[in-house]
Amino acid sequence: MHFEIAQTAQNDIYNLLIGVVAPRPIAWITSHDLEGTLNAAPFSAFNYVCTEPPILAIGVANRPGPGIVGKDTAQNIRQTREFVVNVVSEELAEAMNLCAIDFPPGVNELELAQLETAPSLVVKVPRIKRAPASLECREFSTIEIGRSRIVLGQVVAIHVHDEFIDPAGPYVKAEAIHAIGRMNGKGSYIRTRDAFFQMPRSNYAEWLKTHPAPGKSG
Ligand SMILES: Cc1cc2nc3c(=O)[nH]c(=O)nc-3n(C[C@H](O)[C@H](O)[C@H](O)COP(=O)(O)O)c2cc1C
Repeated sequence: MHFEIAQTAQNDIYNLLIGVVAPRPIAWITSHDLEGTLNAAPFSAFNYVCTEPPILAIGVANRPGPGIVGKDTAQNIRQTREFVVNVVSEELAEAMNLCAIDFPPGVNELELAQLETAPSLVVKVPRIKRAPASLECREFSTIEIGRSRIVLGQVVAIHVHDEFIDPAGPYVKAEAIHAIGRMNGKGSYIRTRDAFFQMPRSNYAEWLKTHPAPGKSG
């Protein structure tokens, strides 16, 4: 099937996009408001976009309905300019899901999910202690597009539980973290346990050993 966006309903565009861009990593974001009330919520419109400087992008839609009402996470980041991205491992999936409930502002989802926090190194916002890895961020820029805010966060500190670090690199033992990813909405996720395979990247010189040199087209 083919869908031209100009002729496609908004809800269908959403369903199609989240099915095509899958699996997605989940940024479980801790933030706080100006009074210091903590907040936690998951966002899968998320990835790192560059490393020099290290920048992450997160898409936070405004709440549905008339007017522009930002989600607590987006409002907190606007006020304090800080947040922490925590990685969701399988064992934390249910706690993460609880944090996705649309609680009213001022509710500390971390308390409800009985999650302990640990102090961050650089920012005031704490990280989730049991999360296998966390990225402390300062807001680099926020772009308002339609009904969403694209938050660009500059990573200012990285935490990885010792058991998931190979100090020789240092490399992250990503296959041991058992992170979960988001699939096409409707409560569907993917596990990364036992899902790894190795495929070394080749280069042109290697390729020429078994192929003729490609001719220029045009
Ligand atoms: C796995 C998962 C991924 C989500 N990804 C997004 C997302 O990328 N953008 C978004 O606006 N909401 C997303 N949500 C919904 C928010 O987590 C939800 O609206 C939450 O209540 C926002 O909380 P807050 O108001 O405390 O920031 C996601 C929910 C789940 C369960």
